[in-house]
Amino acid sequence: MIDLFAGCGGMTRGFVEAGFEPVLAVEHDRAAAATYAVNFGGAHVLPVDIARLAAGDIPRADVIIGGPPCQGFSNLGSRSVDDPRNQLWREYLRVVEHARPKVFVIENVDRFLSAPEFALLRAHTSGYELTTGHLIAADFGVPQRRKRAFVIGSRIGAIPLPSPTHDRAAWHGTETVLRGLPEQPATTRLPDSRIDFDGRPVPGVFKSADLHLGRTPTPLSLERYRHIPPGGGRFDLPDDLLPRCWREKRTGTTDVMGRMRWDHPSLTIRTEFYKPEKGQYLHPEHHRPITHQEAARLQTFPDDFGWCGTKIEIARQIGNAVPPLLAAAVAHHLRAHLTNTAPPTPPCPLC
Ligand SMILES: C[S@@+](CC[C@H](N)C(=O)[O-])C[C@H]1O[C@@H](n2cnc3c(N)ncnc32)[C@H](O)[C@@H]1O
Repeated sequence: MIDLFAGCGGMTRGFVEAGFEPVLAVEHDRAAAATYAVNFGGAHVLPVDIARLAAGDIPRADVIIGGPPCQGFSNLGSRSVDDPRNQLWREYLRVVEHARPKVFVIENVDRFLSAPEFALLRAHTSGYELTTGHLIAADFGVPQRRKRAFVIGSRIGAIPLPSPTHDRAAWHGTETVLRGLPEQPATTRLPDSRIDFDGRPVPGVFKSADLHLGRTPTPLSLERYRHIPPGGGRFDLPDDLLPRCWREKRTGTTDVMGRMRWDHPSLTIRTEFYKPEKGQYLHPEHHRPITHQEAARLQTFPDDFGWCGTKIEIARQIGNAVPPLLAAAVAHHLRAHLTNTAPPTPPCPLC
C-alpha cells in the first residue's frame, strides 16, 4: 500500500496490523516523516512535498490510503483540477493514475463530503466506484467521539464502509486508557535527544512515557479548572472567572474549557489538545489538560510507538492522525474484499 499525506502514520499503523505492507509514504513535515520512519522503516518514506514526487518513484500498489488536507475554501464554482488551490487533489489523483490501485481510501474532516475538493475528486476518478459516509471512532472501540468522512474508491466492485463493532452501550470511556497514569507529570520538557533523519537532526525518539508532560498554569487558570465538573465546560465558570471574550459571547463553542468524563469517550482530539481553551481537554479528574501521552492513548496509539519532533510538532501528529484502531477496522474490512474472504472480527484490544 501507499500512504499519501502520511503524517506520523496513524492510518498506516492500522493497515500494517491488518497485514498490508507499505511500499511508499509521502509526508513533507520532517518531524512527522521521522516519526513515520522510526515506526515503519525509513526506506520507503519520502519527506517531500507531494508535488515533487517523480512518476518514477511511484510503485504499483493494491491500495492507496490518505487524504489531502482539505483547504476549506468556499468557492463552489472553482472545481477545476488546474486551480492552484486544488494542487493537492491533483497530486493525489496523479498518484492514483500511476499506481492504479484496486482500492483507495480517503479520510478527511466530517464536512469534506460537501466540500469542492470532493466534487473535484468525484469528477476525476473514472473507473472507480465510490462509497462515501461518516465513521465515528467510538463505534470501533476508540475511546473518542471522532467523526470523520471516509471515501472508498474501488475498481473491483463497490465496497461499503465497515459496520460498527461497538454499539453505544459498548463505547469505551476515557477511563479505559487514562486511568493509572501519574496525576502530576514529573516534567514539562521532552528529554534532550536527537536522531539524524534525512541528513539533519530531529528531536527524538521519544517513548510514550516521555510524553507525559505537564504545563505551568497560572493561578487563575487553575481556579477555572477547579470549577469545571466532568462533562462541564466554560458555562460552569462563575462570571468573575470568565475571560471578557466569553462573558460577552454566551453562545456557541460549547466544548471549550470542557472536562472529559471517565465513563464517556472524549470529544475529538485535535492538534492543540494541551490548551483547555480550545476544546474538551481537561482531564476527567485532575486539574490540568491531558498530556501528550494521554492524547496519544485516546487516539489508540500503542505505548511502544516512537515519536519525533518538538512538543508542538508531536501534538500536531497526534491530533491529525486517524486512530490506529479505526484504521485497522477499515483495513481488515478492505482486506476481506481484496482477498474475497469473510471479514474477520479481530478482538478489540481495549475490551
Ligand atoms: C491529516 S494529516 C495525515 C494524518 C495521517 N493520515 C495519519 O493517520 O497519521 C495530513 C498530512 O498531510 C501533510 N501534507 C500537507 N501538504 C502536503 C504536501 N504538499 N506534501 C506532502 N505532505 C503534505 C501534512 O504535513 C500532514 O501531516
